[in-house]
Amino acid sequence: MSDPIIKPTHEARKGDVVTPAKGKGWFYTDMVKEHFFSPKNFLEDEASYKQAYLGMVGSPACGDAMKVWLKIETIDGVERIKDFKWKTFGCASAIASTSMLSVMITEEGGMPVEDALKLRPQDIMERLGGLPARKVHCSVLGDKALRSAINDYFRKSGQHDRVEVEHGRLVDKVLKITDHDIEEAVLEGADTLEKLQEKIKVGTGDPSCIPDVEQLLRFYKEKHFGA
Ligand code: FES
Repeated sequence: MSDPIIKPTHEARKGDVVTPAKGKGWFYTDMVKEHFFSPKNFLEDEASYKQAYLGMVGSPACGDAMKVWLKIETIDGVERIKDFKWKTFGCASAIASTSMLSVMITEEGGMPVEDALKLRPQDIMERLGGLPARKVHCSVLGDKALRSAINDYFRKSGQHDRVEVEHGRLVDKVLKITDHDIEEAVLEGADTLEKLQEKIKVGTGDPSCIPDVEQLLRFYKEKHFGA
């Protein structure tokens, strides 16, 4: 029997899935469990998989790591991702999210590179039927490794102008906190200024950055949780 999903209570965050038994906390959907127990496109033997573009990232939120290998072909003038393999030291949510991402990328003849760059972690979560809010950063790991592998493709195919590199912008100059630090904290559940300050102290030494912090808070909540 499949797990019933009920609407989050006021104690859960938007996009969160909750247990009917307790009405709060979190649990995994059947789709998440399916991809966790039978991961698709998982690469066991790296040495056997050659001539692929490699992306590698670590998560500052939890210290876990993800590797993604892509095979890209140009078919009728469209660069398509024909194969997506991956490996991670991440948790169940990272495994399920990346497994789902690999399916989304390779179905229907392979997703065009341009479309893959527009994918958001939210798109993966939708296909999974939701993830506990505290686990959203795990779905970001596969997405970032995908972008890193696409950059590897751009570099190796001489398309250096298409390489997209994330530069951290210093927001709190006293505590040296960047927009990336704020994004990680939001992914870890800091959805108010108070919680952000509790977690990373942003703005406590340099209150002049608070309006900027509040704007980034709104932006990252919208980006990752649609709220
Ligand atoms: S990937 Fe580290 S906790 Fe999920």
